Amino acid sequence: MMKILVTGRLPEEVMAVIKKEHHVEAHGEDRPMERQRLLDLVGDKEGLLCMITDRVDKEVLDSAPYLKMIANLAVGYDNIDVAAATLRGIPVSNTPGVLTDATADLTFALILATARRVVEGDKRTRAGRFRFWVPLQFLGREVSGKTLGIVGLGRIGRAVARRARGFEMGVLYNNRHPIEVSLEKELGVEYADFNTLLAQSDFVSIHVPLTEETRHLVDGEAFKRMKTTAYLINTSRGPIVDERALEKALREGKIAGAGLDVYENEPSVTPGLMEQENAVLLPHMGSATIETRTRMGLKAAENLLAGLSGKRPPDCVNWEDIS
Ligand code: GLV
Repeated sequence: MMKILVTGRLPEEVMAVIKKEHHVEAHGEDRPMERQRLLDLVGDKEGLLCMITDRVDKEVLDSAPYLKMIANLAVGYDNIDVAAATLRGIPVSNTPGVLTDATADLTFALILATARRVVEGDKRTRAGRFRFWVPLQFLGREVSGKTLGIVGLGRIGRAVARRARGFEMGVLYNNRHPIEVSLEKELGVEYADFNTLLAQSDFVSIHVPLTEETRHLVDGEAFKRMKTTAYLINTSRGPIVDERALEKALREGKIAGAGLDVYENEPSVTPGLMEQENAVLLPHMGSATIETRTRMGLKAAENLLAGLSGKRPPDCVNWEDIS
């Protein structure tokens, strides 16, 4: 039996899988584990199952001399200093695949909610101000038949493209490398360079991971290139968008609206953004379904157990660099 630290509250079903084999210390609260507590508790642990709210950097790794495996409960792992873990020979895993549909669904929820002013409408009704049907009130913009620009055509980007077909949208995509022509055909997508995608899309949706190359990929220049009738949707990572530039673009009418699930400095939101009626702001809930969060937990547990027994974790992101 090894010692494991689980930094968030997970479904019992997931905890049972880990507890069967190891001794678990778990953070049983619905708030991120405090930094000092993480540093203290990781000291005698061999396994760490962590959340995106934990910054697993050199300081944490230096406090964890026995650590043999880090399993992140997310597909994105920008919260972990993977290079530092690799140097120490520690495998790091993520949870790809199991949250693709949930995140693509939420992306469409944001596309529809922004374009059709769903949240504004709900607020109006609850305020007791739905008095009449009026022909020129609550006019949004059509989603069907419009052009969707997908930045990053990985698993989630592709799942968004598939959904766009049902809305008869034209889909442009930008990716580090264009995909195979046969797959472009199957998905009904067309490659565009980043600036062309910005200029031609009615909805620009971000699906790249956060790296040094993608930080502030969408900045003031990008908003200038977008149509004034276009919407920005972000369900990936907040720092990919320059949030102050976004607030300014919304305030000055450079773009029509934004649907965000992630923020540059979570959980804070850039001042002024909350005042924009044309922004729909969700609290990072892309993968938040009962089914998906259970699958993510089981996947993280599976990776954790494999790594601790010296096997290659199925979703290891640094295995080749370690061995
Ligand atoms: C959540 O944000 C994830 O990366 O899975």
